[in-house]
Amino acid sequence: MNESPVTALHNRVLAADRIVFFTGAGMSAESGIPTFRDALTGLWERFDATALASPQGYRADPALVWGWYEWRRMKVMQAAPNAGHVAIADFVRNNPTKFVEIITQNVDDLHERAGCTHVTHLHGSILAPRCFACERPANAALIETIPNEPEGGRRLFPPHCDHCNGTFRPGVVWFGESLPQAEFKHASAAAREAEIFIVIGTSGVVEPAASLVRIAKKAGAFIISIDPNETMAELYADAVVRDTAAVALPTFLTACIAP
Ligand code: OAD
Repeated sequence: MNESPVTALHNRVLAADRIVFFTGAGMSAESGIPTFRDALTGLWERFDATALASPQGYRADPALVWGWYEWRRMKVMQAAPNAGHVAIADFVRNNPTKFVEIITQNVDDLHERAGCTHVTHLHGSILAPRCFACERPANAALIETIPNEPEGGRRLFPPHCDHCNGTFRPGVVWFGESLPQAEFKHASAAAREAEIFIVIGTSGVVEPAASLVRIAKKAGAFIISIDPNETMAELYADAVVRDTAAVALPTFLTACIAP
């Protein structure tokens, strides 16, 4: 009897030793964290990316930028991992003999809070501000927790660094900045070595993160794309699951746990 395409996909994942999950904003959408480019709800549909996500934007108006990221940081702190994050963490736990990598463009910590211990963050962490001048991590005592920030945040002056008196900036990668070198190197190697590369909830338009899909494809990985909408990343996919992360991942990955 011929196996169904879905069974074939499950068997492929079961047989693989090296699996990469590559996630974008859509991974956390069902946790209530907005994506960047979804029509109407995406952050870059509603807010000015140049003003809010570039070193020149920060220099021009640090209070606007700091306040906006504080709003986003509070949203992340109040969010909980969704069923998709949990399904990936369960998959890692239930397949201890496989070499599984989680590479994310997300600046939240929801993979970690779902139970994944090794997560490579390509775009930094919104929870780890650092000094704009001396780059030292912010002293946590200087960073407030402010519940009930208004939508879009409000002007808030960034606290001063206790080392050099510079001002703090969010710990995320901005447009025009390089990705953290060690993380990108690690992610590129994982993409090259992957047998299965599962892309979840990313439009695939931001470089160099998006290049990981091409690196994996070129090196011979089988690419699975999970996204409710068509994406650039999908151009390289061998299989497409047209659904959301919190719906598709529990269904798909539960069937991929070795008996
Ligand atoms: P985008 O907003 O560009 O893409 C989000 C993707 O998630 C789209 O393909 C959506 O169709 C999909 N999506 C929406 N809801 C979903 C759901 N519930 N489940 C699964 N997928 C869903 O976000 P990214 O590709 O992550 O950079 O954006 C890349 C980078 O651009 C971000 O890391 C950020 C931004 O500027 C930095 O912060 C440095």
